Amino acid sequence: MIDQGQNTLAVLVVGATGSVGQQVVTAAIAAGHRTRALVRNQSRGRVVAAGAEVVIGDLTDAATLSDAVNGIDAVIFTHGDNSSPEAVNYGAVRNVLQALNGRRVRIALMTTVGVTALRDSSSWKRRGERLVRSSGNEYTVVRPGWFDYNDSDQLTIVMRQGDRLQAGDPSDGVIARRELARVLVESLTDPDAVRRTFELSSERGPEQADLGPVFAALQPDPEGTVDGVLDAPNLPLENEPRRVLDDLDRLRGH
Ligand SMILES: NC(=O)c1ccc[n+]([C@@H]2O[C@H](COP(=O)([O-])OP(=O)(O)OC[C@H]3O[C@@H](n4cnc5c(N)ncnc54)[C@H](OP(=O)(O)O)[C@@H]3O)[C@@H](O)[C@H]2O)c1
Repeated sequence: MIDQGQNTLAVLVVGATGSVGQQVVTAAIAAGHRTRALVRNQSRGRVVAAGAEVVIGDLTDAATLSDAVNGIDAVIFTHGDNSSPEAVNYGAVRNVLQALNGRRVRIALMTTVGVTALRDSSSWKRRGERLVRSSGNEYTVVRPGWFDYNDSDQLTIVMRQGDRLQAGDPSDGVIARRELARVLVESLTDPDAVRRTFELSSERGPEQADLGPVFAALQPDPEGTVDGVLDAPNLPLENEPRRVLDDLDRLRGH
């Protein structure tokens, strides 16, 4: 439950054994949150930082996720497998929301810069974003640039909207995994991060001590829309697969 005094949360990290997820677990613990790591088996749980609770579950099967979501206040999604984009990138979001069964939580969802480009793996991540926006939960969607391609003096955090950079190389943006983890964790407790969708990168200069003004400069996603505020309208719902529309309808019904 939310501890109002210290703004600490019970946080579930999905993808907790990944290169980003491990740093998110560390950052969430450091922020004082009670941190739970979802892992697919006990042996993968060994990479999770001490101090986190490890829970076993299968991202691709909502029926296995009830222990993972039990009692949580927030979820940070950092999972990914571009070889199974529907089952993993999209399915994990759908299945965790399904396991929550309408219970409200704060969500931070990591997808990717270029998510609105019409590629199979990115479109399934975009559909995951759409589920989150339609779920009735307070959320932040973070679309990082290329992980750890930043120079050591390239630490000023930049948030853009509209997903206009789609070269498919580091010219679209670079970000340290540590800074990405920080942004995901801090988004959970900053009111100015609510209903924000942005691409995350870094530019030459020092890291900001306070991300509040960076979040506050962003435009919120309009209520009731499935896409980010400045996204291109290039994946119309009327052309979407029936099963995707059914998932959206089920969530909106909660
Ligand atoms: N690399 C970049 O520069 C970059 C930039 C922007 C966005 N991204 C995106 O970031 C995402 C994740 O990044 P990462 O480096 O943290 O990836 P990673 O190290 O491969 O971690 C992926 C996480 O997802 C979990 N996962 C994958 N398939 C699963 C399955 N079938 N069942 C259960 N868990 C599963 C993994 O669990 P296990 O540990 O058990 O395998 C792991 O926790 C990717 O989707 C990628 O497209 C990458």
